[in-house]
Amino acid sequence: KRKYKIAVLPGDGIGPEIMREGYKILNVLQKNFCMNIETKEYDVGGIAIDRHGIALPESTLRGCENSHAILFGAVGGPKWENLSSYLQPERGALLPLRKYFNLFANLRPARLYSGIENLSPLRFEIVSRGFNVLCVRELIGGIYFNKRKGTKYVNSKKYSFDTEMYYQFEIERIAHIAFKLALSRKRNLVSIDKANVLETSVLWRETVNTVSLEYPEVNLSHLYVDNATMQLIKNPDKFDVILCSNLFGDIISDECAIITGSLGLLPSASLNEAGFGLYEPAGGSAPDIKGKNIANPIALILSIGMLFRYSFQLIEISNIIESVVYEVLRLGYRTKDILQKNNNLVSTSEMGDVISKFLSYRRIQ
Ligand code: NAD
Ligand code: IPM
Ligand code: MN
Repeated sequence: KRKYKIAVLPGDGIGPEIMREGYKILNVLQKNFCMNIETKEYDVGGIAIDRHGIALPESTLRGCENSHAILFGAVGGPKWENLSSYLQPERGALLPLRKYFNLFANLRPARLYSGIENLSPLRFEIVSRGFNVLCVRELIGGIYFNKRKGTKYVNSKKYSFDTEMYYQFEIERIAHIAFKLALSRKRNLVSIDKANVLETSVLWRETVNTVSLEYPEVNLSHLYVDNATMQLIKNPDKFDVILCSNLFGDIISDECAIITGSLGLLPSASLNEAGFGLYEPAGGSAPDIKGKNIANPIALILSIGMLFRYSFQLIEISNIIESVVYEVLRLGYRTKDILQKNNNLVSTSEMGDVISKFLSYRRIQ
């Protein structure tokens, strides 16, 4: 029986709280689906700074290397915000992890199933048309990673700068991922840029157009990012796959999350060419709700679903996890972030219990 080794990195804030619910799901898969899953936990982020003096200890990196996939909670929080920025959890651990494993392709699926339209802050007439978007975000390039950044003085005037830069090959490889994913969906791809202002966006648009010649079945269009943010809330059903640079994808994916109902619902997969991946909620450590047992564990549980889909090719398990989550939502179980009247308010741990109970009733065909 194949052994599936998962490096578990709970991190900070609500990270450990939602990870507890993730373990419940993995336990059900272990017991009821007879899977051989081995988890090992490693410190990352603020907790790692506290315990090891560094946000991404060598032992954590080695642990990830010796696993088949990484399951990540969240990092960061007020406690570490006064450290030099490059030592902080985000820039000291999460970004280096993405870079180290070459996880250039970030997939963030946001969808609305019928029966749970009321989760969305959008008007019913808009969400009743439903939507199912997949945000494909370039994750290890652009303004996030370029070394030409800093803070300096000129004539005693202080200034800071970051540099947006893309190699054409970086745009090509993420574009191929987006086109391939579009082929398996509604064959509709919207590429987002700011080609009316930015050189990198001109190259982006040109390169995506060239790559598109290899995918004649996919309907490609381009939108400027400012317009795209509007179109997404006006007509979310017009979108299928969205392709963005690192920074635009960060912003657009939070928007995709909120139109489904909450950041606590949005999972993500970050993959390299070999299919190795890091799976994490798109949201952060949510210090405002930490320790209250009210965080929504669904983004993490759906990230586990993505892990089984993309790293282990266990599509059926992944489908079952997703359908159980949507069943539980349809039945009205809601954590506080998605609560509405007539719903059944549950805590973080109760949500994990309900989902694992429903999961344990399911079987592989
Ligand atoms: P955040 O995503 O942590 O929170 C934004 C809002 O969404 C908050 O109101 C929060 O309560 C809510 N939210 C997020 N996840 C939720 C969940 N699962 N259930 C219910 N509500 C949820 O963003 P922020 O407040 O801007 O950042 C807080 C910290 O997290 C910062 O240190 C930031 O750098 C870090 N961060 C980390 C990651 C990551 O580790 N991948 C991602 C984003 C932000
Ligand atoms: C995300 C987060 C990260 C990002 C931060 C915490 C570095 O916001 O995963 O969306 O900007 O990529
Ligand atoms: Mn973000």
